Amino acid sequence: MCQETERQYYYMDRARQHVQALTQQLGRIPTCCVTTFGCQMNARDSEKLAGILRRVGYEVTETEDADFVIFNTCTVRDNANQRVYGRLGELKSRKKHNPAMKIALCGCMMQEPAVIEKLRSSYRFVDLVFGTHNIFKFAELLCRSFEEQGMIVDIWEDTDQIVEDLPVERKYPFKSGINIMFGCNNFCSYCIVPYVRGRERSREPMEILREIRQLVAEGVVEVMLLGQNVNSYGKNLENPISFAQLLREVEQIEGLERIRFMTSHPKDLSEELIQVMKESKKICRHLHLPLQSGSTRILERMNRRYTKEQYLALAEKIRREIPDIAITTDIIVGFPGETMEDVEETIDVIRRVKYDNAFTFIYSKRTGTPAAAMENQVPQDQVKEGFDRVLKVVQDTAREQVARYQGQRAQVLVEEVNTQDERLLTGRMSNNTLVHFPGPPELVGRIVTVLLEECQGFYYMGHMVSEKSLAKSL
Ligand code: SAH
Ligand code: SF4
Ligand code: F3S
Repeated sequence: MCQETERQYYYMDRARQHVQALTQQLGRIPTCCVTTFGCQMNARDSEKLAGILRRVGYEVTETEDADFVIFNTCTVRDNANQRVYGRLGELKSRKKHNPAMKIALCGCMMQEPAVIEKLRSSYRFVDLVFGTHNIFKFAELLCRSFEEQGMIVDIWEDTDQIVEDLPVERKYPFKSGINIMFGCNNFCSYCIVPYVRGRERSREPMEILREIRQLVAEGVVEVMLLGQNVNSYGKNLENPISFAQLLREVEQIEGLERIRFMTSHPKDLSEELIQVMKESKKICRHLHLPLQSGSTRILERMNRRYTKEQYLALAEKIRREIPDIAITTDIIVGFPGETMEDVEETIDVIRRVKYDNAFTFIYSKRTGTPAAAMENQVPQDQVKEGFDRVLKVVQDTAREQVARYQGQRAQVLVEEVNTQDERLLTGRMSNNTLVHFPGPPELVGRIVTVLLEECQGFYYMGHMVSEKSLAKSL
């Protein structure tokens, strides 16, 4: 165990004593709630926060009516920030009724100096604030918040540290995210992530494989390898290794059934990766390949480092090599200088690639990014018109794409009892499409074979044909 990990375990023991005292004072076990905003990487960080909170003696709950509430924030678009401020207002009134309550904030938004200033001046009721680079110090900071008065703020500019082996409380017993790298070096001109997550750092393959083996021993059957640009994984390690090589190693892990990953930057997607995916029995038939824009002119201004033609050629090659793959994407509408002709180019790519799903975002100006200083910010009504047009095409093509398996059998990992109808189970196909079908709750976490009876837009209704994963199915 590394020195920093040991240090944090020391603080966990110390925090446990504070929580024990609080338990006595309250006459019950104190509760905590971790609320996640943003991407899968934040969701994984939240599992680490919850792991520490549980270890020091809190009961983890889903409600913010708790004794310790932490918001793990996102700042990728301005509406993510606004939601945090809105929710903080609600917490303030909760704290009035529960003076022992502690409120903490962490995550990407905290790396912005303007946010910290605002918190210091208008949100004094917050107890603890830290950022993305020192999240591994959570136990230590938690201790300080028991031992010191007033708001504790600890934000680092950057870090090269990767602290392994801290406790984790997983949301699902049967699937898990795994960080394979942190940060981003791409500096797409609209994006704040490189500023708030720091430079790209890959974890050692040995550490990743060890973690996955451990998860499999605990019952995990599906892993999602996480990074802002997984295709550049391993390039900066002392002993460099490619992402495709890492996947080959992960594939060998016995008992692991499914491998997913995100996100793939098109500029770094290698021929080797396509071959590994093609040959693999475990890598899921899904590739998230963010397009952002279909206009070469805009792509250049976005600093994406591929052209429309290069993207189309890549997508075509992937479809040719792996015909049953689902391709999904992210699209931004309203980037500075974007015209309706540019939007048409994006629509053209959507029609040609035929995405199974696409997340469409309205461009959000992020302070400090090159795009924020660009002229020709697009007027709102034009953005709205472009957005609606893109969304319509996305929905039409996705519906067609998703429906192409109607009548076939598919292997489905059962994820939960349906939230609307408890007679139904909800699971995911290898290509990430959701399927609902009647079945008993005991099947949650298992891979079963389901007949895809009816496609209803973006998901299927079906019925189970076997409680096993039959090889002759999707
Ligand atoms: N690393 C991933 C993306 C992470 S952010 C990648 O390169 O694909 C997730 C998505 O948010 C991006 O793909 C982009 O579509 C969107 N996004 C990022 N910054 C944005 C901004 N300023 N305004 C609107 N959408 C943005
Ligand atoms: Fe942002 Fe681009 Fe990095 Fe993705 S690759 S996180 S969009 S800078
Ligand atoms: Fe948001 Fe940070 Fe993820 S800004 S999208 S939570 S890396």
